[in-house]
Amino acid sequence: MVSRIIPVDPFDLVIFGATGDLAHRKILPALYRRLATGQIPEGARIHCAARSDFDDDGYRKTVEAALRRFVPAREMDGALLGRFLEMISYVAVDATGEGGWAVLKSRLGSEAGRVRVFYLSVGPSLFGSIAARLTETGIADEASRIVVEKPFGHDQASAAALNTQLLRCFEENRIYRIDHYLGKETVQNLMAIRFANALFEPLWNSRHVDHVQITVAESIGVEGRGDYYDRSGAMRDMVQNHLMQLLCLTAMEPPARFEPDAVRDEKLKVIRALEPIERAQVKQLTVRGQYRGGKDLTSYHEDCGDPSSATETFIALTAHVSNWRWSGTPFYLRTGKRLRARMSEISLHFKDAPHSIFGARGEGLHSNVLVIRLQPDEGITLRINIKEPGPGGMRLVEVPLDMTFADALGASGETIPDAYERLIMDVVRGDQTLFMRGDEVEAAWAWADPIIEAWEHQNLKPQAYDSGGSGPEDALMMLHRDHRRWREIAGQER
Ligand code: BG6
Repeated sequence: MVSRIIPVDPFDLVIFGATGDLAHRKILPALYRRLATGQIPEGARIHCAARSDFDDDGYRKTVEAALRRFVPAREMDGALLGRFLEMISYVAVDATGEGGWAVLKSRLGSEAGRVRVFYLSVGPSLFGSIAARLTETGIADEASRIVVEKPFGHDQASAAALNTQLLRCFEENRIYRIDHYLGKETVQNLMAIRFANALFEPLWNSRHVDHVQITVAESIGVEGRGDYYDRSGAMRDMVQNHLMQLLCLTAMEPPARFEPDAVRDEKLKVIRALEPIERAQVKQLTVRGQYRGGKDLTSYHEDCGDPSSATETFIALTAHVSNWRWSGTPFYLRTGKRLRARMSEISLHFKDAPHSIFGARGEGLHSNVLVIRLQPDEGITLRINIKEPGPGGMRLVEVPLDMTFADALGASGETIPDAYERLIMDVVRGDQTLFMRGDEVEAAWAWADPIIEAWEHQNLKPQAYDSGGSGPEDALMMLHRDHRRWREIAGQER
């Protein structure tokens, strides 16, 4: 199946922090791939800005090197690369000073109605000053959009302060807060599965769903990001944003339309319906872990350079969404680094059949599980019970009813676009549906902050776990106490 590509309008995209890792690893490769599909039209321009001194050619060489590193060789094409590099120019800009702004302004020109996007691929401490410069200098006009990356704050107060700084210069409908999980194809598919099929919706509630598991397991460690990570930990790095978004999309009510505020209003209601985890419950409802070293593997302490660090690299927690749909159905969330496999999935575990007509032969009868695999191997599996083949009566066996999106769509898995491709094109089109609104981010912090404070207050240290395993023992116990079990963390397990 060939997907339809609708070209966007010609645009000017300014990337601040253009010499950084995110620009090289994600943003520029995403743009290169969108050019390859024909979605970026003739006349689009990419202005790369950072503090270092480069001329256009010198900077383009760094872009070429980055593409060769981060885009698979089979997608590299000499003529396309030439066209892409021609779209790129470089300007040295001092984010907090005067240097470079006038040059940037003249490069952008004054063509009325042209889409202008300012992508702040820089630390949050620079959001306010760059936004202010853009408006003071008149570089940003009424139609300009600003894109910011996580971390969006460290807690609710700092997120609110960032919102205030940005809102002084840009209206909310021109601010695009990225959570790259929302750009993942399968995460969007979660909405398609739920709201484009009448089959699931009647079952999607606490009457039929016993519990929900959301797992984002990574096999890598903190990989040279120890300094940033040690100030964040898994709660701030993954749970407050990515896992929270997955929880929202799983639990939310159907919005009336697939439109930015309709979707975001429903997500916000879920966050606000989350029961606060009180100090007294934190030991029972949350588990923190930290990876040990192993054969040829460094420990987290070595990776972050602080032998006494108490930062968590793993979290498991039990969340309750207190509303009519979900009251009584726990949502178990789990994420960690250096686990057995890279595996992200959402699974809905349905209640047992009310009565087994098969008596003893129905032993081992399993309750149904719907698994939505986000990565890798994106797809859906429904685990159902069938008759074991052969004579000898009615013996039951549980099997997967399985669908891999790439197979179903006749495309190879590798052609699933990266989240950044979708998100950047959405900014150019002016579609905020897959971006977080300010109130949503603040509400997510308001739920996460007391948990972090409770750990600090009670001086709870993370439990050590083996690299390459499933996380700390206490995480298994958390579900065991509720008479449930986590799904296996395994590459191809369905
Ligand atoms: C980032 C986190 O937001 O998401 C990283 O800062 C994490 O720590 C990454 O590794 C995971 O993203 P993905 O797309 O590889 O699942």
